[in-house]
Amino acid sequence: MSEPSEGLSNLLHEERRFPPPAELTANANYGAEAYAAAATDRLGFWDDKARRLSWATDWTQTLDWSDAPHAKWFVGGKLNASVNCVDRHVEAGLGDRVAIHFEGEPGDTRTITYAELGVLVAKAAHALTELGVKQGDRVAIYLPMSVEAVVSMLACARVGAIHSVIFGGFSAQAIYDRVIDADASLVITADGGWRRGKVFALKPVVDEALAKGTTGVKNVIVVRRGENDVDFDAERDVWWHELVDRQPDTHTAEAFDAENPLFILYTSGTTGKPKGILHTTGGYLTQAAYTHHAAFDLKAETDVYWCTADIGWVTGHSYIVYGPLANGATQVIYEGTPDTPTQDRFWQIVEKYRVSLLYTAPTTIRTFMKWGEELPAAHDLSSLRVLGSVGEPINPEAWMWYRRVIGGDRCPIVDTWWQTETGAMMISPLPGVTATKPGSAMKALPGVSVDVVDDVGTPVPNGGGGLLVLTEPWPAMLRGIWKDDARFVETYWSRFAAQGYYFAGDGAKKDEDGDLWLLGRVDDVMNVSGHRISTTEVESALVSHPSVAEAAVVGANDPTTGQGIVAFVILRGNTANGGDAQVAELRNHVAKEIGAIAKPRQILVVAELPKTRSGKIMRRLLRDVAENRAVGDVTTLADSSVMDLISSGLSSGKAED
Ligand code: PRX
Repeated sequence: MSEPSEGLSNLLHEERRFPPPAELTANANYGAEAYAAAATDRLGFWDDKARRLSWATDWTQTLDWSDAPHAKWFVGGKLNASVNCVDRHVEAGLGDRVAIHFEGEPGDTRTITYAELGVLVAKAAHALTELGVKQGDRVAIYLPMSVEAVVSMLACARVGAIHSVIFGGFSAQAIYDRVIDADASLVITADGGWRRGKVFALKPVVDEALAKGTTGVKNVIVVRRGENDVDFDAERDVWWHELVDRQPDTHTAEAFDAENPLFILYTSGTTGKPKGILHTTGGYLTQAAYTHHAAFDLKAETDVYWCTADIGWVTGHSYIVYGPLANGATQVIYEGTPDTPTQDRFWQIVEKYRVSLLYTAPTTIRTFMKWGEELPAAHDLSSLRVLGSVGEPINPEAWMWYRRVIGGDRCPIVDTWWQTETGAMMISPLPGVTATKPGSAMKALPGVSVDVVDDVGTPVPNGGGGLLVLTEPWPAMLRGIWKDDARFVETYWSRFAAQGYYFAGDGAKKDEDGDLWLLGRVDDVMNVSGHRISTTEVESALVSHPSVAEAAVVGANDPTTGQGIVAFVILRGNTANGGDAQVAELRNHVAKEIGAIAKPRQILVVAELPKTRSGKIMRRLLRDVAENRAVGDVTTLADSSVMDLISSGLSSGKAED
């Protein structure tokens, strides 16, 4: 266990309050009474939220928790997630409403109405069936931000197949591991996608992944996007446009059980192997749709919503695909990066589409702060109404900048805390109710129960700090870790088994008013630009290189990315000299093993690592070094001179970048 990251913990005497604009309060989807309603009858509250969806068969029991921590929500209910995201809007006469404004990085655009989305999903569903994909089969999706990514996910949901989206930045090794773990029978990819003015290849990475060993993959569907040359295996590979375009444009969908698996999404835990987080249909969709409607105060008829996350992360699943589409929202999907072709691309997009609800990450906001106020100031951002933040703690300076420079001092900020495991938002202000404080996610959404407890599970008083727990089951909760129930119980439910609490892995404080401040992970999971990466995963990648004998990795505070990855490595005697070229090779090796997002910011070659007498590496001390602090208490070290050795090694300058 390490301590929550410092930095935010002394900012708990916040005097500033930002009450909601009167007009927003007057027309808000949710008022203060929602908290009272949920507190009085929590399950009845969730029943109401589930009724916002369209069900083929009603449920007979809201929650079955008799086999805790294995939950069943909306027991006996049947629905189809894809029908809820598309068909029902068309049937309600909203077929002409724009579902997606797609903006490609090169500037090409596509506008897709709900009726058109319905046709695309129907065709893709038929295509899956033609390839033999059935209910319960796993489909890996490795696509750039694109209309086809959304369509692929909805087509899987439509036929009851389980999608496993793999972020387009992951390596061949990462794809192979995920395909094997989920035993996927189909991969959907693209030739390439656009990033920073260039095409990055995707299909070749899939080819490399599938050549690593025997997999259950029978087919690979390839979307043409990058126009880059790709190899084709005539038996296995098929172009999307050749397979999908010729299919019928209507499709009758089957309703599935509320607990039918919807997707697996791999995320980093404290061990080297990513966990396949499993979500099911009814509860997940209920909470994704409700929280999107509540936290953004979505008015589907008039709002234009834009979530800048990638579909490869849970934010893209819940707040690009399932939440907004279940709510019939109009949204922007952007393929590229914020700095291409110019650093004001985001503000051009907001102005062009009159975006009113924006959802992005603190890292992105801090990057914009570096680029200067002139860029947003040169654009008309007056359409913006509510601004969301997600993925990592937002520091008060970034919060204030977001509010003033982007939100024109008028838009409420909703800092939303949740996780891949929670499936949907758990802690967030309600924009029509909450008087917000810069840097605080405030309190649990109506229907959600959280607390901050000490080491033995006792709630801390206001003003105290401890561990964040979820004290009652919630509809979008993970149903398990794919093929690893023991790890599911152990990771989330064993620490506070006596109380039956879910352990989130985050540190938190309650301020004097009882409002919540999230302080970052308390385990060996790093948060780099809002992406979760485990220290062990990077360590395993490093030691898989022949020149590395041992490695220890820490997340060090970083002014832009939240945390940066700093690795300490011991090289094998004769193979290595620890020079710049070798450090560069090790960084590239990590990128090859996991993906570029896991490349260490810095690799320090050291002679020893600080260990306790039982052999455990003391990452706390390494973090002190990585953050240029005086090294803390070394009394539990087996050899206390090690830290002197490391610190003196540093001044000899082995750092990269
Ligand atoms: O540490 C918390 C941080 O991100 C972790 C979850 O990461 P992931 O599963 O990748 O999901 C990210 C998108 C929901 C959490 O354990 N985190 C997420 N949102 C916030 C946050 N930390 C502070 N404030 C937030 N708003």
